[in-house]
Amino acid sequence: MSRRLRVVQWTTGKTGRAAVRGMVGHPVLDLVGCYAHAPDKVGRDVGELCGLDPIGVLATDDVEALVALEPDCVSYMAYRPNFDHLERILESGVNVVSTMYMMAGFGYGEEATHRLRDACLRGGSSLYASGIYPGHAPNVALAASAMCSRIERVSILESLDIAGYANEQMFRAQGFDLPPEDPAAAVACEASCGSFKDQIPVLARELGVRIDRVGFRVEFATANEDTDFGFMTVRKGHIAGFKGTVSGDRDGRSLIECSFVWKLGEDMTPNWPVTHGYIIELDGDPGVRVRLEPQGDHLDGTVTTALPAVNAIPQVCAAPPGIVNLTGLPFVRGAHQLRP
Ligand SMILES: NC(=O)c1ccc[n+]([C@@H]2O[C@H](COP(=O)([O-])OP(=O)(O)OC[C@H]3O[C@@H](n4cnc5c(N)ncnc54)[C@H](OP(=O)(O)O)[C@@H]3O)[C@@H](O)[C@H]2O)c1
Repeated sequence: MSRRLRVVQWTTGKTGRAAVRGMVGHPVLDLVGCYAHAPDKVGRDVGELCGLDPIGVLATDDVEALVALEPDCVSYMAYRPNFDHLERILESGVNVVSTMYMMAGFGYGEEATHRLRDACLRGGSSLYASGIYPGHAPNVALAASAMCSRIERVSILESLDIAGYANEQMFRAQGFDLPPEDPAAAVACEASCGSFKDQIPVLARELGVRIDRVGFRVEFATANEDTDFGFMTVRKGHIAGFKGTVSGDRDGRSLIECSFVWKLGEDMTPNWPVTHGYIIELDGDPGVRVRLEPQGDHLDGTVTTALPAVNAIPQVCAAPPGIVNLTGLPFVRGAHQLRP
C-alpha cells in the first residue's frame, strides 16, 4: 500500500465535484482542503458542496491557508487556470494534477508554460494535466499501438451528445448557438480545440514520428427548431453541433487525427450519428480498433474527466519536478480502485 497523500481540491465545479467524490473514502488519498472561487461556497463543507455527507473540510478562498496545509498535491479543476494561483502552489513545492488543457504543456501559450515550469523547478514540484480527451483516450491509443508492427494513421474520435454536461459558459465559448456563417464560430471552435492541438505533439513524440503541421477543419450542424436545454437555448438555424478534426500532418498527409462530434441533442441538420464514447483506430498491420464506452450514468463525462487526473496523484507526487506527461510518468491506471 502506498503512503497516504494529502490533497487539496481546487474548485468544486462539474469536474471538481466528481474528483471529490473519487477521493472521499479513497484508500491512499486524504482530502484536506478545498479552494472556492464563488464567494457563497466559502466556509461550506466540501462534502455538502459535492452532494455528499459533510466531511469536515471547509472550502476557503485563502490561497495561503491552503498552501500552509502542506498538501502533497492540488487537484486543480477551475474553469480557466489562474496562473498566479498555480505558480504559488507549484513554487511552494505542492504538486498539481489538473484537467486543464496542458497535456504537452503549451495549451495556454509559451509564457504560461515557462511560468509554470519555472515554478515547478523552484519548488521541486510536478504538474500533470489529463482528463478523458485530451488525456486518457490518447493514452489508450498509445497503449494499443504496442500491438502493431506498422502504423499508417492513428485516429481518435470523441462522439457525444454533450447536452448532459450542461455547461453554458463552456458551450458558448466553443461557438454553440452562433450562426454558422459567423466567422467567429470556426474561430471559437478552433480556440476551444487548443487542447487537441496540445496533445498532437505528445502523440507524435511518443510514437516517434515527425509532423510538420497541426491542421484543423470543422463542419457545423444547425438546429431545426429553437431548442431549450434548460441551461441554454439554441436558436433555429444556429450551431447545435460540430464535427471537427485536429490533425498532425507530414508532407500534406494526415498521420494523427483527434476528431470530435459534439452535439446538443438530435434535432439538427446534418444529424451525425453519436456513438457515446471514444473510437480509437490504428490503420496498419494489424489494424486495431478500440472502443471506450463509459457505462451507466457516466455519459456526462465528469467522472471520466476527473479520475484520470485523480488516479495519477500517486505517480505525479513521485515524478521528477517539471511539467510531466506521458514521458516520465508511469502509465496511469486505477490503482486502489479495485475495491470489492
Ligand atoms: N480533458 C478533458 O477531458 C476535459 C473535459 C471537460 C473539461 N475539461 C476542463 O476541466 C476544467 C473544469 O471544467 P468544468 O466543466 O468542471 O468547469 P466548470 O464546472 O464550468 O467550472 C469549474 C469551477 O471553476 C471555477 N470558476 C468559474 N469561473 C471562474 C473564473 N472566472 N476564475 C476562476 N475560477 C472560476 C468555479 O469554482 P467554484 O465552484 O469554486 O465557484 C467553477 O465551479 C476546465 O479547464 C475544462 O476546460 C477537461
